Amino acid sequence: MSSRTENSGKHTPRLVVVISGRGRNLEAIIQAIEAGELAAEIALVISNRADAPGMQIARLAGLNCVCIEAGGFKHREDFDRALAARIAAARPDWVVLAGFMRILSQAFVERFEAKLINIHPSLLPRYKGLNTHERALSNGDARHGASVHFVTPDLDDGPTIRQGSIAVAADDTPETLAERVMTEVEQRLYPAVLAELVAGRVFFKDGVVWRDQRLQEDCPHDQYDRLAVT
Ligand code: GRF
Repeated sequence: MSSRTENSGKHTPRLVVVISGRGRNLEAIIQAIEAGELAAEIALVISNRADAPGMQIARLAGLNCVCIEAGGFKHREDFDRALAARIAAARPDWVVLAGFMRILSQAFVERFEAKLINIHPSLLPRYKGLNTHERALSNGDARHGASVHFVTPDLDDGPTIRQGSIAVAADDTPETLAERVMTEVEQRLYPAVLAELVAGRVFFKDGVVWRDQRLQEDCPHDQYDRLAVT
């Protein structure tokens, strides 16, 4: 599919979405595009697992999709190089990690610097890594949520673009909390951040996030740090 519409000749931002699992964030991005809330197209979906349910979501939506499994490569760097080559061939404006469960090498991250973003199910910098919902519950956190951030070589450590949170309920289990963070935060947050990125409102330059012509850290906190969720 061409990234230029027939009538306007205007470039439609191209997303490459990289997944490993269920693909609920991918699904939300697809729906936002279909609803006209996100002016972008998904040029390619890549999974590192052939059996990822998200691949079925991509196929049903008629998207180009490809699977690159790490088992076919001797070294991690070889897999990352193959992944990077396939992504680059799709000419992405944004590389969207959506539940991609592998740590990427520094060379990969640097190749897509400032266009590589990830969603993490915690209010970073709290709970980098796995089991975020369990950890939020066992610490007795009153609120928990998700963060979208630019990816830098350190795991879950790149600058945050935007966060969304919900109140933790007294009877939440890791499962119910994970489900509510996914449906009430992640599936709203990721398309909303992508819409800001493709509109050029937010970008990463000189190691910092810029928002609406200002350093994000100088913007009023509530402009970017909360979705309208309670
Ligand atoms: C999400 O919780 C995301 O934050 C994390 O992995 C999970 C992916 O879920 N990085 P899905 O594949 O989008 O359903």
